[in-house]
Amino acid sequence: MATSTMTVAAFLAKVLLLSLCFVISRSERVKEKIYDKIQSDMACFKRFNGTHEIGCTSKFNGNIGVIHVINNRSDLDWVLDKGPHHPYMLALTPEFLTVSNLRDAQDSGKVSGVVVLVHEGFDPEKMLTSGFSGDYPCPNEEYGLYNHSSDTEYTNYCQKNPWNPPGSALLFSNWEFPIFLIDNQTSVSNIITCYEEFNAPKDGEPRSWPLCALELKSHMFGTTNTEVCMRRATLPSLFSTVNFCDPLYDFNIWGTVKPMNASEDLADQSVIIVAARMDAASMYDNISPGVASAVAGLVTLMSTAEAINRHKEEIMAAESNKNIMFILYQGETWDYIGSSRMVWDMEKGEFPFQKQEDISDQMSQINFTHIDYFIEISQVGKMEEKRLYLHTDPVSNSDPVINSQTGILVTAFNMSVSNSSSGIIFEKAPEEAPLPPASFQSFLKHVNISGLVIADHKGSFKNKFYQTVFDDHRNIKGEVLADVASVLATTLYTMVVGREYKEIIADKNFTEVLLDCYSKNASCSMFKDFGGYLLKNEMNDGKPAKMYVNVKRGETGRTYVTSNIFARVMGEEVDLNETECKSNSFYQVYQYFYLPRVSNGTCYRTTARKTEAMSPAFMIEDYDWQSGMYSTWAESGWQAIDAMLFLRPSVVEEVALVCGGVVSIVTSFALVYFMNSRSDLLFGLPTPPAAC
Ligand SMILES: *[C@@H]1O[C@H](CO)[C@@H](O)[C@H](O)[C@H]1NC(C)=O
Ligand SMILES: *[C@@H]1O[C@H](CO)[C@@H](O)[C@H](O)[C@H]1NC(C)=O
Ligand SMILES: *[C@@H]1O[C@H](CO)[C@@H](O)[C@H](O)[C@H]1NC(C)=O
Ligand SMILES: *[C@@H]1O[C@H](CO)[C@@H](O)[C@H](O)[C@H]1NC(C)=O
Ligand SMILES: *[C@@H]1O[C@H](CO)[C@@H](O)[C@H](O)[C@H]1NC(C)=O
Ligand SMILES: *[C@@H]1O[C@H](CO)[C@@H](O)[C@H](O)[C@H]1NC(C)=O
Ligand SMILES: *[C@@H]1O[C@H](CO)[C@@H](O)[C@H](O)[C@H]1NC(C)=O
Ligand SMILES: *[C@@H]1O[C@H](CO)[C@@H](O)[C@H](O)[C@H]1NC(C)=O
Ligand SMILES: *[C@@H]1O[C@H](CO)[C@@H](O)[C@H](O)[C@H]1NC(C)=O
Ligand SMILES: *[C@@H]1O[C@H](CO)[C@@H](O)[C@H](O)[C@H]1NC(C)=O
Repeated sequence: MATSTMTVAAFLAKVLLLSLCFVISRSERVKEKIYDKIQSDMACFKRFNGTHEIGCTSKFNGNIGVIHVINNRSDLDWVLDKGPHHPYMLALTPEFLTVSNLRDAQDSGKVSGVVVLVHEGFDPEKMLTSGFSGDYPCPNEEYGLYNHSSDTEYTNYCQKNPWNPPGSALLFSNWEFPIFLIDNQTSVSNIITCYEEFNAPKDGEPRSWPLCALELKSHMFGTTNTEVCMRRATLPSLFSTVNFCDPLYDFNIWGTVKPMNASEDLADQSVIIVAARMDAASMYDNISPGVASAVAGLVTLMSTAEAINRHKEEIMAAESNKNIMFILYQGETWDYIGSSRMVWDMEKGEFPFQKQEDISDQMSQINFTHIDYFIEISQVGKMEEKRLYLHTDPVSNSDPVINSQTGILVTAFNMSVSNSSSGIIFEKAPEEAPLPPASFQSFLKHVNISGLVIADHKGSFKNKFYQTVFDDHRNIKGEVLADVASVLATTLYTMVVGREYKEIIADKNFTEVLLDCYSKNASCSMFKDFGGYLLKNEMNDGKPAKMYVNVKRGETGRTYVTSNIFARVMGEEVDLNETECKSNSFYQVYQYFYLPRVSNGTCYRTTARKTEAMSPAFMIEDYDWQSGMYSTWAESGWQAIDAMLFLRPSVVEEVALVCGGVVSIVTSFALVYFMNSRSDLLFGLPTPPAAC
C-alpha cells in the first residue's frame, strides 16, 4: 500500500510540475515573439598591448538599451541631452561612426552600445568622401625606423606629412560598450522598422513604453594590458578553462627560387628578398578585407613568383650565385610582428631554424650578410595611370656604398619598364621623404641593406580606407596587378641571370582569379582546390577572405590555403603518389605538398615553407612590456556573441512581471509540498514507512 501512496503524491506533483512547465514553455513562445535575433557575427572585440587595452566589451550578461537611430548630429544631441529612457543603443550609419561621436556617447554615460548599419548599396567612396581609417595618421610609427627616439631629421616627418590623413585611430581606442557591425538587410530593416514604430520621437517629444530595445552581448574575458592578461592566463587551475588572452600568432610564408643546401656555402649578398604583407585589420571580428592594404601586394607577389618560376630552369642554368626569396609577412598591421620576428631569428643565427647536427640534407641558415636587396611590394592596388613610386630610405642611403647599390636597383627597374609592353610607369619618390610604413623598416632598424618600397602613392596613401571594412575590391584590377608583376619578374630575372633584357610576362588569368578569391569570394574554386574544402566555415562564401592575423588555435584557413598556392607557384610537380609525397622533416631543403584536388591529386616539391610569426616579446624571458622594442599585441578571449531585438515594457511593468512570476512559482512549490506532506490526510492513506 505504501507504494501506491507514493504514486498518488508523485502523480499530483507531476501534474503540477507539468502545468508549470507548460506555463514556462508558453512564456518561452511569447518571448520568441518579441525577441528577434539580429546579425551578430561582426562584433568589435578587445585587444591588448604592453600598456593599453583597445576595442570593445559588453557586461557579462550583455548590454541592453533603447534604440535610437542617428541620422544627424542633432539626433545624437537629443539622446545625450534630452532622451529620458537611457541607456540608449545608438544605431548609426558609417558616416556617424567617428571617434568624437563615440567619445561623447561614452562620456555621457547614457549609451550602452552601438550598432553600425550598412545599407545595401552603401558606397564608401561617395558617403565618406574624405576617407575613413581606423589606423593612426602615422601607422606603426613607433615601431619603425623613424620613431621618436630615432634621432634623425625624419623623426617627425610623418607628423607634418601624414601617410594616412584620414587616420582616426578608432581601431586603437578603448570603448566600454559593445559595437556591432550589421550588414544583413533583414536585420537592418528590422531595427529601423521597430524604431520607427515604437521609438521615433514625435515632434521632438519622446515616446512612452513599451519601446524597442536591443541587447548586445560580447563580453571579453581579458582586461587591462597584455602583461596583466598573460599573467592571468598562466594562473593555475581555477581559471584554466577561461581564455583571457592569446598573443597574435600566425606564420610567415616564404620560399626561394633556387634550393638552398646547407652543404654548399651561401655567398655573401646572394639573396634578393621580395616581400609583401599578408594581413590587414578592422575593428570587427570576421571582416578585414584589406584589399588595397594587403591583398593587392600579396597577389602581385604570387603572380611575380609564378612568372619567375616558369623560367626556373634558365635561372638554375645561369652561372650566377644570386637567388630570390619571396616572403609574405604576417601580423605587420600590429607593429610588424612577422618581419621583426624574422630579424630576431636572423640576429640569433637561427633563421629559418637552429642548425641541426644530425640531419643530412638540411636547408642553410640565412642571415643579414646574405641579403643583397630588399624589394617590398607595398600598397599597389590604387595606381593612377599605372604609375608606381619607388621609395627609398634616406638614412641608410647616406652611406655611399648603400646608395650606389640602390642606384643599381633603380636602374634595373627603369630598364625593364622602358622596354616593357605593360604600360607601367615607375617614378622615384622624393629623395627627401623617408619610407612609408613597411616591413623593410624592421630590417633597417638593425642593419643597412639597400632596397626599395614600391607603392601606388608618392605622399599620402591613395587608399582612403586603410584598416577598415571598406578597404574592399572596388577599383582594384587584377589585370593591372599582372602588369606590375611582369615588370617585377623581368627586373628580377635580369638581375639574377645577369644576361641582357628578356621580358617575362605574368599570367593575367591567374592574377585575376587569385584577386577575386581573396577580395570577393573566398569559397571560390581555386581556394577549394587548394585546401579550402577542408575549411567549410572559414572560407566565407561570397565574401572576401578574412585577412586578420590569427591567434594560436584560431582560424587557419587563409594561411593554409595561401601556403598551398604558394607551394604550387614556387614548386614543381613530381611523380609521387599520396603516401610517398611526404616531407621527412621541416629542416630539409625541399618540402613536399600533396594536393588531392589539383588535377585529381598532385605532388609538389618546393622550397616553400612557413615559419612562426609571433612577436619576440612573447619569447624573451622577462621582456619589458613597456619598452616598445617588439610588438606586444594579444587578443581577448570571449564566449558567446549575440544580439537581440525586443520590445521593452516600462520598468514598473517589468518588475511586476518578475514579481508575479516569483510569487506564482513560490505558491506552486508550497502547494506541492503541502499536498505531499498531507497526502495521508488528503487522500485518507497511511504514511509510507521511513525506510522508503
Ligand atoms: C599600446 O597601444 C596604445 C594605443 O594605440 C599606444 O598609445 C601605446 O603606446 C601602445 N603601447 C606600446 C607598449 O606599444
Ligand atoms: C627607434 O628607431 C631606432 C632606429 O631608427 C631603433 O634603433 C630603435 O630600436 C627604435 N626604438 C624602439 C623603441 O623601437
Ligand atoms: C540575414 O538574416 C536572415 C535572418 O536571420 C537570414 O535568413 C538571411 O539568410 C541573412 N542574409 C544574409 C545575406 O546573410
Ligand atoms: C645537398 O647537398 C648534399 C651534399 O652535397 C647532397 O647529398 C644533397 O643531395 C643535396 N640536397 C639537395 C636537395 O640538393
Ligand atoms: C651569418 O652567416 C655568415 C656566413 O654564413 C657567418 O659567418 C656569420 O657568423 C653569420 N652571422 C650570424 C649572426 O649568425
Ligand atoms: C631596353 O631599354 C634600354 C634603355 O632603358 C635600352 O638601352 C635597351 O636597348 C633596351 N633593350 C631592349 C632589348 O629593348
Ligand atoms: C646605416 O647607415 C647610416 C649612415 O651611414 C648610419 O647612420 C646608421 O647608423 C646605419 N644603421 C645601422 C643599423 O647600422
Ligand atoms: C563563390 O564561388 C563558388 C565556387 O565558384 C560558387 O559556387 C559560389 O556560388 C560563389 N558564391 C557567391 C556568393 O558568388
Ligand atoms: C604509392 O607508391 C608506392 C610505391 O610505388 C606503392 O607501394 C603504394 O602502394 C602507392 N600508394 C598508393 C596509395 O597508391
Ligand atoms: C579527375 O577524375 C574524374 C573522375 O575520376 C575524371 O572525370 C576527370 O577527368 C579527372 N580530371 C583530371 C584533370 O584528371
